[in-house]
Amino acid sequence: MAKQSKSKTKRKTSAWFQRHANDPHVRQARKEGKRSRAAFKLTEILNHYKLLQRKTHVIVDLGCAPGSWSDELAQRTGEGGLVIGVDLLEMQPLAGVHFIQGDFTESATLACVDELLAGRRVDMVVSDMSPEMSGNKLVDQARTIGLNDVALDFAVNYLREGGHLLLKSFMGEGFDTFKREMGGWFASVKVVKPAASRKSSSEIYLLGQQFRR
Ligand SMILES: C[S@@+](CC[C@H](N)C(=O)[O-])C[C@H]1O[C@@H](n2cnc3c(N)ncnc32)[C@H](O)[C@@H]1O
Repeated sequence: MAKQSKSKTKRKTSAWFQRHANDPHVRQARKEGKRSRAAFKLTEILNHYKLLQRKTHVIVDLGCAPGSWSDELAQRTGEGGLVIGVDLLEMQPLAGVHFIQGDFTESATLACVDELLAGRRVDMVVSDMSPEMSGNKLVDQARTIGLNDVALDFAVNYLREGGHLLLKSFMGEGFDTFKREMGGWFASVKVVKPAASRKSSSEIYLLGQQFRR
């Protein structure tokens, strides 16, 4: 693949900063003390589909750093609930969130989650995991679908009957096949593009409701 010139990269970076600075969700996140603008994507989906309204929930948040989703999830689960967040990166502690630093594709990380769950079934699995982008669309898409597969596999093994799975994906090679596969496990699977997700991004979310074995 052709290398980009330094000035092209510089232009792209400054365009990103410009867009970031002008983004109303970024400003709102700062104002409300949220860790990232991603929080608005989750709240919009949860509110629209009336999810997590009952108080005690067991939730696993995959790819949770810096923590805006986990923070929101911890506020939606009452006493006796449990929120477990997993990420490759470090995360500043959050009240009500059990954080595990590790690669979720590795069995040692899954074993830590399993231990924390101590046999409890999960009400909702959310995954905002996205791979480090290589710049090669095919490679990045394959990695994304790989992470989606791992999240679905976990959900299938740990969700309670009637539980939900929300995960981030990208439109592209393998997406339709993955969505069909997910459809085999849930009463409904919806493709959701929240308003806070940039229109210019091919990122979308898949929401599987009512897990059935
Ligand atoms: C878009 S960020 C998540 C933002 C988060 N939902 C929030 O609201 O703060 C995606 C995260 O996925 C994590 N990630 C990517 N691959 C992962 C893996 N294999 N295991 C665990 N975390 C992973 C990245 O480290 C990154 O922090």
